[in-house]
This record gives sequence, C-alpha cells and structure tokens, in this order.
Amino acid sequence: MTDATAILQGLRARPKTLPTALLYDALGSALFEAITELPEYGLTRADLRLIDAHAADAVRALGGPLDVVELGPGGGRKAALFLPAVTARQPSTVFTAIDVSASALRECRHALEGIDTVEVRCVEATYLDGLRRAPRVPGARRLVLFLGSNLSNFDRRDALAFLRDVRAALLPGDALLLATDLEKPAAALLPAYDDALGVTAAFNRNVLVRLNREWGADFRLPDFAHEARWNAPERRIEMHLVAQRACEVHLRGEVLTFAAGESIWTESSHRFRADELRAWADESGFACIQQWTDPAWPFAHSLFQAR
Ligand SMILES: C[S@@+](CC[C@H](N)C(=O)[O-])C[C@H]1O[C@@H](n2cnc3c(N)ncnc32)[C@H](O)[C@@H]1O
Repeated sequence: MTDATAILQGLRARPKTLPTALLYDALGSALFEAITELPEYGLTRADLRLIDAHAADAVRALGGPLDVVELGPGGGRKAALFLPAVTARQPSTVFTAIDVSASALRECRHALEGIDTVEVRCVEATYLDGLRRAPRVPGARRLVLFLGSNLSNFDRRDALAFLRDVRAALLPGDALLLATDLEKPAAALLPAYDDALGVTAAFNRNVLVRLNREWGADFRLPDFAHEARWNAPERRIEMHLVAQRACEVHLRGEVLTFAAGESIWTESSHRFRADELRAWADESGFACIQQWTDPAWPFAHSLFQAR
C-alpha cells in the first residue's frame, strides 16, 4: 500500500519520517494488540469502559436501522463489544471493517464470528478510500466508528480536514462515533508510549524489520533505539527511532546517511480537549449530539451526526 517512493521521500526529509500506517504489518498489528494489554496503556481500557457504558445510548440516539463501518478496527475487540447494542435493535446488521493490515482484518473477522446476525465485510484499504468504496445498506443510516484515538495520529490541521472528508462521504443523519484521548499530564502519558516491558519499543523498531524484509533495506537494528517524546506546544507524543551512531543505510539503490542522534519520526499521538472536539464537529459539517468522558483515564467518545 505504501510505495518505495513515499518511503524514500520521508527518509530524505528533515526531520526524517515514515508513514505511520507502515507500523502495522502482521507483527506490528500483533504487537499493537499486546500494547493494549499493558498496565501503562490506559487508552484501550477507557475506550472499552465507554463502549460498555454508552454504546446503547449512542445507538438509541441515532435510531435505526444502522449500517456500521469501523475505520482501523485492529483485532475487532471494540466492535465485538459495540455491535450487540446494534443487534439488539435490528434483525440483521452489516459491519464493514476498513484497515490497511490484512492480519488485523483476519483477527477482526474472527473476533466477530460469534455474533450470528452480523455480516462482516472486510476492506483492505486506507480509511477514506475504504469508506468511499464501502457499499451502503439500502434504507439504513451509516454509523462510522473511529475508535482507539486513531485520529491522534493526524496533525491537528489534517485531523480537521479528515473529519470534513469523512463528512463528505456520508449523508445527512449518518453519524461518526469518535473516540479520542484527552489532555493529561505528560508523566501519565509517556509511559503509555515507552512501557517497562519494551513492547512499544518493539512495535516501533519493527518498522525497520519491515523495511528490510519488504523493501530490501539494510537497517542494523542495534543502531536504532525507540524514544517517546512529549511535544508540549503541539500537545502530542512523538515516537522516534534514534540513530545510536553515525551510519549509512541502503534502500533501493539509495544511500541514506544518519548522524548520531538523528531520528526517524514514526508516529504522532495528539491530545485533545472535549470542547475542541465539539467545535470541530461544527467546523466539519457535523453536530456533536452527545459526548461521554471517562474520568479514570480522561478520554472522550463524541457522537457526531452529519447535518
Ligand atoms: C492504533 S491501532 C487501533 C486499533 C483499534 N481501533 C483500537 O482502538 O484498538 C490503528 C489501526 O488502524 C489501522 N490503520 C492505521 N493507519 C491506517 C490508515 N491510514 N488507513 C486504514 N487503517 C489504518 C492499523 O492497521 C490498526 O489496525
């Protein structure tokens, strides 16, 4: 899905970057699922608590019947918790999972096998491409789930543009359930991206293993260390792979040079305020009709309805 040109462009840039979606090959997706179990990673538990407490309220607020689409569902654990609120109100449901990771889609299908009245459709695609391609169910209102604070990975301006693009792919009355991590002290956040077991470090460094395997690069893993940084003005965690010494890496006939301490920026994870999200609903053609927050790990579910 990502081509060598985009990868080389990022690695020639200053600072060097890689597309975040590249983190999710089969091993990356499995490592992400492991991250969600870590004591330091409060996001998943907060998201699950909010689904458990309010999925039925969200479904009731929209009325039915609903056709449910999830952008980047990963292993489908949250869909498995959410969908019973929908199936309780309608005889059959189409659930479309859109993810760049084929292995995540397989896991997602597997996670939903036990729900008899749900037809699972898997689309291996990027978010918007998949959303535009996913056939609608006639007579149903579309509900798009965007959970796990995946929106955090976009730069703030791109996040708002993304919401507008999602809105453009929907009809009036359709909805978006947007889960986002809220601001909290850096001391609570940093361990979530730099855990004691080193699972997040493995998740981040695996992108180099992937570049070696799929694009014939020759990164030496010991030369690159995982680092999570809090960027206070931008209100985001950044994940970097920092060169431990000056080195050269070859990729598709190009020589990439790294100074000692130079990094590849692999992921951003922005934090939001609840009022900022409500304002974004208005600015992107939605209305925020409900918002629920988790007090234990500040986290929000915002239900946006397309105007
Ligand atoms: C951080 S994980 C979150 C998974 C799940 N939503 C959760 O809350 O646990 C991000 C998921 O989105 C997928 N993903 C990342 N970037 C994507 C993109 N641009 N388009 C489609 N899927 C993407 C990944 O493969 C992964 O399954």
